[in-house]
Amino acid sequence: MSEALTKFFITFLSLLILIVGVQLTVFVQKSPAQTALDRRVEKFLNENRTKWHDWNVPYEDGRVLYHLIIKNNYKRALEIGTSTGHSAIWMAWALSKTGGKLITIEIDESRYRIALENFKKAGVEEWIEARLADAHSLVKELKGPFDFVFSDADKDWYTQYFKDVDPKLAVGGCFTAHNVANAFGGIKDFLDYVKNLPNYQTTIDRSSSAGISISYKKSN
Ligand SMILES: C[S@@+](CC[C@H](N)C(=O)[O-])C[C@H]1O[C@@H](n2cnc3c(N)ncnc32)[C@H](O)[C@@H]1O
Repeated sequence: MSEALTKFFITFLSLLILIVGVQLTVFVQKSPAQTALDRRVEKFLNENRTKWHDWNVPYEDGRVLYHLIIKNNYKRALEIGTSTGHSAIWMAWALSKTGGKLITIEIDESRYRIALENFKKAGVEEWIEARLADAHSLVKELKGPFDFVFSDADKDWYTQYFKDVDPKLAVGGCFTAHNVANAFGGIKDFLDYVKNLPNYQTTIDRSSSAGISISYKKSN
């Protein structure tokens, strides 16, 4: 190889490394607002890690929901069963990064009010539309579309929730459901139903003993 050609390659490679380096720095850097939010949510979640007592998901399962939303860049999320807001905070935190929003539904007024306070304390209220309603009717009424659904209310209604949401769930989106590790009653019926659908791929995450089913929609 001639000296000129070697010089050309060295210059070209150096430039390439420089450009990739700059791009990566820009990509990895967070805005000051996002950094402040991250600190606030993390602090809230860590301080309350062992304090939830309203059938809330364990910390590990909140983290699973968070990563699912980030990994797939989901933006239009629905939660059925807010309780006092643990899982909603994890999901809203993820949605603050993808530019999305969560609708969450709770039937019990006192838990709904505590959830609203928790959303403010964690700093994620901007990404949550909390609805005090019976999900049996509201899930049917909501227009969607959604790309992420977390079902965590009355287990006997899981299959019906799924059937109501399915037409509003985007291809590539997923329907997740909590407490599926010990499949009995409504949960067993739900798992049997969803696992037999050819256009869904269902797996179970066992990060906690409760278990989360994750059903990806492959096609309509
Ligand atoms: C297991 S807890 C949800 C925990 C919550 N996802 C968390 O991790 O913080 C189930 C909640 O669903 C609510 N629920 C049950 N049936 C409901 C219905 N038909 N509509 C709306 N909420 C309902 C209950 O009141 C309860 O607060």
